[in-house]
Amino acid sequence: MVSVFEQSAEQFTKGSGMPEKKASICIYPGSFDPLTNGHMNLIERALHIFDKVIVAVAINPDKNPLFSAEERKEMIQIATENNPRIIVDSFEGLLVEYARRKGVHVILRGMRAISDFEYEYEMTFMNRKLDREIETIFMMTGLRWVFVHSKGIKAAVKAGASVAGLAPDIVCERLKQKFRTAT
Ligand code: PNS
Repeated sequence: MVSVFEQSAEQFTKGSGMPEKKASICIYPGSFDPLTNGHMNLIERALHIFDKVIVAVAINPDKNPLFSAEERKEMIQIATENNPRIIVDSFEGLLVEYARRKGVHVILRGMRAISDFEYEYEMTFMNRKLDREIETIFMMTGLRWVFVHSKGIKAAVKAGASVAGLAPDIVCERLKQKFRTAT
């Protein structure tokens, strides 16, 4: 039998006497340059709440990411093992416009510590000003990953350290390759 977590919302309510429910879906946006185990923790836990999660890689022409959007998407796809409930996508421009295009009204963000709060607070209110129909919800990043962030991971590998256990294997491999070819 398919577990509740693998069922779609339609399968879950079908024949149960419960009113039919539309699939619940959220957008989990970020730079993901690169994906860390903190991000993975959030995606996994989001799947306990939502039927589908769109992991949306932001393309920001003003930033100079280490990995291209295609590389970032590929790493997410591999790390999440092509799970059909996870949609890996990218977007350019305003997040709320992307959400509107997708017909999704929930944005999910992870918060690691108080230090993230101000940034998230400003971004949430800006998004709310731009579109009141779109809600941002937060999940606290798992305690194990509170100190893990993409910037730190890149700096560690660049300096020759291993980040095994802090990021998915594919990310650790690709980071090593990146810095090997850069030197
Ligand atoms: O992983 P990050 O870098 O903290 O993610 C930030 C991101 C990509 C979610 C944010 O910069 C964003 O939403 N960018 C799209 C542009 C936008 O909508 N700006 C208005 C809200 S501040």
